[in-house]
Amino acid sequence: MTIQMQPHTRDRPDYRDSGLEFPADFLIGAATAAYQIEGAVSADGRGPSIWDTFSSTPGKITGGDTGEVAVDHYNRLEADLDLMAELGIEAYRFSIAWPRIQPTGTGPANAAGIGFYSRLVDGLIDRGIRPIATLYHWDLPQALEDAGGWTNRETAYRFAEYTRIVAEALGDRVRMWTTLNEPWCSAFLGYGSGAHAPGRTDGAAALAAMHHLNLAHGLAVPVIREIVPGAEVSATLNFHVVRPADDTSADAVRRIDALANRSFTQPMLLGGYPQDLIDDTKSISDWSFVQPGDTAIIHQPLDFLGVNYYSTTLVRAWDGVAPRERADGHKDMGGSSWPGGDGVEFPLQEGPYTSMGWNIAPDGLEDLLLSLSREHPGLPLMVTENGAAFDDEPEGARVHDQQRVDYLRRHFTAAHRALQQGVDLRGYLVWSLFDNFEWGYGYSKRFGIVHVDYVTQERTVKDSGLWIARLIDEHVIPR
Ligand code: FCB
Repeated sequence: MTIQMQPHTRDRPDYRDSGLEFPADFLIGAATAAYQIEGAVSADGRGPSIWDTFSSTPGKITGGDTGEVAVDHYNRLEADLDLMAELGIEAYRFSIAWPRIQPTGTGPANAAGIGFYSRLVDGLIDRGIRPIATLYHWDLPQALEDAGGWTNRETAYRFAEYTRIVAEALGDRVRMWTTLNEPWCSAFLGYGSGAHAPGRTDGAAALAAMHHLNLAHGLAVPVIREIVPGAEVSATLNFHVVRPADDTSADAVRRIDALANRSFTQPMLLGGYPQDLIDDTKSISDWSFVQPGDTAIIHQPLDFLGVNYYSTTLVRAWDGVAPRERADGHKDMGGSSWPGGDGVEFPLQEGPYTSMGWNIAPDGLEDLLLSLSREHPGLPLMVTENGAAFDDEPEGARVHDQQRVDYLRRHFTAAHRALQQGVDLRGYLVWSLFDNFEWGYGYSKRFGIVHVDYVTQERTVKDSGLWIARLIDEHVIPR
């Protein structure tokens, strides 16, 4: 796969269209993840996850924040469901916290944990909202990390067992399933750069984690299909739309595309690992983690592919050895997220930027959707995350987040342009329903279309939330 095709200077519209209409069955909704919103980390038998451990380690999270309370969604479920209904959300993508279901990552189901997600699913269905369940959004039970985490092959088998428990409990009501959210982050930020839990900084470990995440996905898909007739199964990947800074950077693009994108798309969707990825990383790992039969297990037919997109990635060749990381939107915790990314640097990209420092480039979303649909014909796509952090200031009962409205308008326009060019795009879920715990950045970055006051837990629909509600109501990009 090569997503980098279009030079970013190409003459493009500004993507600020209004009046564009989406098909009636195009799902528009919002997404969240368990650790980022639920809080209640020791309620009802939940075990600790790697994110509890990581966030309570000094220096890892801005402001020393943790997910202990988050937006207290666990205790405010009914009111939050009502809020979703008020906004008219058609689909809600949530994740299930593995340590609520199996507190130590193995053994029987914790009934109280299942009970929470069962109430969530019922509450969605009662309100006419389609549930989309993600099985893993980064909160690995700490006990499994203690046994090696994703560097341990066994974790993939534990994941398949956990999948069976959840599918049996919710499969009578949930049709749309996602195995993993952004396994690139789990592997390369969790075990490579150290910016995410568990915070390890070891390139070989990151590559092993990548493979075991792929294996976990491959083992889980048939389990869901066996238990849930008519299931629509997917994985969600965070694609890097890699662009060359100049005409000497083609190899840099190839390397980063291999590490960031083809490391997952090729084994999941085409079968086997890219030879160039194996070659680029051979001084770091001998790849003995791939065992006979693994590539066949990982290559499972999928019903749709989840696409998370925020910004583009600019790369340039340089004459140093190790990858030079700068301004690529992740915290510097000492390790590299690009083992094998030798001779690549990440120059500062053209603005404007969100408050994450991520560049705003709706044309990247259009390019991405077009290239995925070219490379994987017949595979429906869904934007499972897109959104922006800005420093919102509530004014009384309103939050005038014009920049977020503009960001969303431009990215919905990009998606619409892809649809018009024949991309089989089934829906678009905004990140995020609420302001929440933004991983290494804690509560300092707000992505919500609903503002949360972290002292009172009061929710206030932002102007972007009102804009999304209108978009959903009319299925037309508002003026
Ligand atoms: C994605 C994550 C999501 C959120 C957004 C901003 O990488 O999947 O949880 O943090 O970024």
